[in-house]
Amino acid sequence: MATDNMLQDYHSDDKLEKYAATLVDLKSPSISTRYYTLYSSLPSLKDKTVFDLPCGLGFKARRFISEYGARKVVGVDIVQKQLDLSRQSDLKAGVQDGRIEYVCHDALIAKEICQADICVAVHLFCFAKNFDELVSMASCVIMNLKKGGQCYSTTCSLSKVDEHTIKLKLESFDHIVTRVDPLHDSILVPRRLIFVHDGFNYDSYAWDAEAIKKALLMAGFSRVELFPHKSDPEYGGPYNLDEYMKTVDGHLMIAVK
Ligand SMILES: C[S@@+](CC[C@H](N)C(=O)[O-])C[C@H]1O[C@@H](n2cnc3c(N)ncnc32)[C@H](O)[C@@H]1O
Repeated sequence: MATDNMLQDYHSDDKLEKYAATLVDLKSPSISTRYYTLYSSLPSLKDKTVFDLPCGLGFKARRFISEYGARKVVGVDIVQKQLDLSRQSDLKAGVQDGRIEYVCHDALIAKEICQADICVAVHLFCFAKNFDELVSMASCVIMNLKKGGQCYSTTCSLSKVDEHTIKLKLESFDHIVTRVDPLHDSILVPRRLIFVHDGFNYDSYAWDAEAIKKALLMAGFSRVELFPHKSDPEYGGPYNLDEYMKTVDGHLMIAVK
């Protein structure tokens, strides 16, 4: 089950408005590393079907259609309200009817919704509370891909930094960390993290990249490759992106069915 505080946050108009602003904030270290890595690594999506899990407010889905030439995007999220807002934004952006289809679904339940060429999973695995849930989410992804299809996911593991240092470092990037589990040895146990950033304040779970790789292989992917996050060379914001990347220890993961 998704946590109540997460569901509450994603139903709040105020928080969603702030969240939408962060997704286009070029000063944000996350946009200039994690999202930059994803967008600069994607193959051509021309005539492809993309499974976007979770799709949130649909920013990526619209970009896949308008900039990457995708034929169709199937966006899935557990919060119906975000899907309704996404539809409104699609209309405003003039996205042709039917090019983006939205389905409200919990990724912890493996279900076939489409047969896509590519799945994009940004901020998905951080909602798995234990290893079984991680495998369930990976199963939901593979079930919605054609044979040979690829999943692009981004991860942040926080696996190398003790809790005191993490708090200090993340605070220097304007996050307020209210809780982070101590460092430990088992990659099969995530580090629970609660931080406040732009109004959001919910539990998320930082997984070691090797644990996510293991879950993807257990779900049936044939190959998984990891690439460290890179930073946008044109970044003009105030943060030290190298320091940010070192702190969050993020990877782009490409898994092939
Ligand atoms: C940080 S947002 C990221 C959204 C989108 N990937 C993006 O990059 O803009 C996390 C999203 O995960 C969704 N979510 C969390 N748990 C989920 C689950 N079990 N199944 C489907 N969506 C989930 C939330 O509703 C939220 O929209």
